[in-house]
Amino acid sequence: MKADVLLGLQWGDEGKGKAVDVLAPSYHWIARFQGGPNAGHTLWMDGQKIVLHTIPSGIFREDCMNLIGNGVVIHPPSLLQEIKALRQHGLRLEGKLMISAKAHLILPGHRLLDQAFESAKGDHKIGSTLRGIGPAYTDKYARHGLRYGDLAGPQGKALLETAHEEHLRQLKALDFELPNNLPEHVQEWMDAIQELHSDFAPADGSWLLNQALDQGQKVLAEGAQGSLLDVEFGAYPFVTSSHTTSASACTGLGIAPNRLGTVYGLFKAYCTRVGSGPFPTELRDQTGEALRCAGNEFGATTGRPRRCGWLDLPALAYAIRLNGVSQLIITKADVLSGFEEIKIATRYQGLDNHFSPYPDVPSKCIPEYTSFQGWALDPNHQYQEVSEFPTEFRRYIEFIETTLNIPIKLISFGPERQQILAVDN
Ligand code: GDP
Ligand code: IMO
Ligand code: MG
Repeated sequence: MKADVLLGLQWGDEGKGKAVDVLAPSYHWIARFQGGPNAGHTLWMDGQKIVLHTIPSGIFREDCMNLIGNGVVIHPPSLLQEIKALRQHGLRLEGKLMISAKAHLILPGHRLLDQAFESAKGDHKIGSTLRGIGPAYTDKYARHGLRYGDLAGPQGKALLETAHEEHLRQLKALDFELPNNLPEHVQEWMDAIQELHSDFAPADGSWLLNQALDQGQKVLAEGAQGSLLDVEFGAYPFVTSSHTTSASACTGLGIAPNRLGTVYGLFKAYCTRVGSGPFPTELRDQTGEALRCAGNEFGATTGRPRRCGWLDLPALAYAIRLNGVSQLIITKADVLSGFEEIKIATRYQGLDNHFSPYPDVPSKCIPEYTSFQGWALDPNHQYQEVSEFPTEFRRYIEFIETTLNIPIKLISFGPERQQILAVDN
């Protein structure tokens, strides 16, 4: 059996949480492979909104095991809070949620360092979610990070203290004013990891998944962020600190490349981006504002307004190439309802369709657009066949499929679980 991968092809918030929740009943395991609580994956259950940050989006499906893989970074108090919120929804997580012993930890100092580095950048801010992601991955690769399994033994407290003192030294050198409640936060952090360890023993995630695949079970690797925020292939430095592309499912879970199967590439019917960095099709006008309102485009983690713009096909083609996408999923098709004219960027002037997301991309890349006539989806209709969609919308979909030469397998037309159509092409 091979493991499938589902990831975002844009700048995050493509609707990965909803899509994973919809696909989860056909999988035995859902496994997060990178990122941390900078992610916000929104699910709607019977009119109730639930945002997952570190826990995989298969958690609401009864027979689905969920793994927080070794490539993820964990902030214990936030994870515990997330677990408690799910318990309040009546979920039992013990035996259903596994946490890799090798997943690195976001320590209290990492969050402060994130703030210190961002404020030192002045006008050149990345727009980080300030969840400590960058500093935690920095320590991982500098080989003095702490992992979930490292803190399980009696030496845990001493390890944390040593790491914390080093962070305090760095913060002092940056002239960062420490918050008064830092000692309480460190204690809360320590209590949280102890509580997590008592309910979720550090696991060998790679072994669990490979065993599952050997036994013919189905595994879906869930991405966070989006391909254009990849630390290597995004517009560096306006990126996150992990690899968000499909190769990362191998290193972030301990699965060999020849064990990867279908790669689902998810994209919104338009584009959004939170934080700084290039965004060639951004609409800084009333149409952008209208998209933000219609799509309720505010960050699931930070609540910040998302920048909005038209769909960018050269950028999508770039993400498809990086990930080896075999099937596409389009989300938020309903949001474009009611716009008279809808545009898609099909190429960049003078760039021979070669999208290259360096930070100076907007000045170099002037998008050329193809216009489409708008459509209206009925918000109360449960679309069962593509033929039920308005002709103008079908034209839009066909144009994307033909240009990218990849089939669209799922069309999401609303936030709820049932508002999705599997295309039989
Ligand atoms: P993720 O980070 O990729 O999981 O996406 P987010 O949860 O951050 O943002 C996607 C937002 O769009 C969430 O509020 C979802 O509930 C919502 N959503 C997902 N699919 C659809 C859709 O097809 N239509 C509409 N209107 N909203 C959707
Ligand atoms: P999901 O999984 C959208 C963005 C931040 C910032 C940059 C770096 O919900 O799609 P970081 O906190 O990683 O240092 O921030 O990346 N970013 C996201 N944008 N969705 C996300 O996750 C994001 N995670 C990080 O806004 O621009
Ligand atoms: Mg999100």
